[in-house]
Amino acid sequence: MKKTIRDFDLYDKRVIIRSDLNVPLNNGVILDDNRIKESIKTINYAIDKGAKVIILSHLGRINSQQDKIKNNLYPVSLRLSELLNKKVIFSNETRGTVLEKIIDNMKPGDVVLVQNTRYEDFPIKKESGNDINLAKYWASLADIFINDAFGTSHRNHASNVGIASNLPSGIGFLVEKELKMLGKELTNPISPYVVIMAGAKISDKIKVIENLVTKADYILLGGGIANTFLKAKGIDLKESIYDKDNLDFANSMLAKYSDKIILPVDGYGSSSYKDGLEVVYSDINNIPNKIMVLDIGPKTVELFSKYILSSKTVFWNGPLGVCEFKNFEYGTREICKLLVNSGAKVIVGGGDSASAAIRFGYKDSFSHVSTGGGAALEFIEGKKLPGIEIIEEK
Ligand code: 3PG
Repeated sequence: MKKTIRDFDLYDKRVIIRSDLNVPLNNGVILDDNRIKESIKTINYAIDKGAKVIILSHLGRINSQQDKIKNNLYPVSLRLSELLNKKVIFSNETRGTVLEKIIDNMKPGDVVLVQNTRYEDFPIKKESGNDINLAKYWASLADIFINDAFGTSHRNHASNVGIASNLPSGIGFLVEKELKMLGKELTNPISPYVVIMAGAKISDKIKVIENLVTKADYILLGGGIANTFLKAKGIDLKESIYDKDNLDFANSMLAKYSDKIILPVDGYGSSSYKDGLEVVYSDINNIPNKIMVLDIGPKTVELFSKYILSSKTVFWNGPLGVCEFKNFEYGTREICKLLVNSGAKVIVGGGDSASAAIRFGYKDSFSHVSTGGGAALEFIEGKKLPGIEIIEEK
């Protein structure tokens, strides 16, 4: 059993809580604050126990100066402050004397949010590369480390594994709940067990199919992952995205499991990755020139409904279309409705799927809405998550 935040005397201790406050932002406006809300319980507990609370989180992926501007955590500090009903001191620095001074001046119950840990990824990947000096430096700012970022627990980064290697450590309430819920419903899922996989992070997720296909009765695919399989089958996708590095993999999966891997048969698209342009419907075998498919269509929904409505357990990861665009939310919304009507135990994994479920009003209709996407997938694959493994045992 892993130590939890309850196992520590937190009073007057400097406690780093690694949260996953990686929320969707548009020009500094938070589009969905679910991950912030889900992180509150652990933070409030630490405040109530008189800890000096230092929160670390990443936001997006940082490969340029432009990414830094887009992925500034400051707006998150404002929302966090509203939800905690308490002042949150924001450190614009991820390291340095200003940050150190802020921490030196903290009193029990104070809260500091440190700027996006992945600012340390540009120009050299120190955070994502688990740079030993960076990890030691962050650890030197605190007495205890709590991992409450389930969504990044599959990563071996300085702000989780690195700090935990240098401090007494435990998990927070969010991580505890995720492990319990995902473990309970998906370690021995009741059959028929259907996995729905789609969404944007194609190369991160596609290899998971190799394992899940042996556990699930059916895998329904959408988005760029489905496109990679369709392309492998020889379908002309016109401008649609797919992962060219995984065509051989997709082919090998189809050769073995074509009866289990269910692919879209139609879709909605447009001429560019934008909302508001003309929406074009087509059969998947007949995509017009210059069109990229951005959602599944009604025939696919009907095909998927046969599997979903007869399932007993469903794990759903990734929106079926670009559902942040009004014109391409149809597929994701329809799949949500089917999931609710299925009567199955439904576990939703991933920031974007969770956002969609919440936006369409279904958050409380599912057995569990996980804050982690890739992390949830790896956990149900049976893989060890480095961010959890490193935490001390009781
Ligand atoms: C997520 O959004 O799935 C987590 O916050 C992890 O983000 P990452 O895939 O960029 O590491």
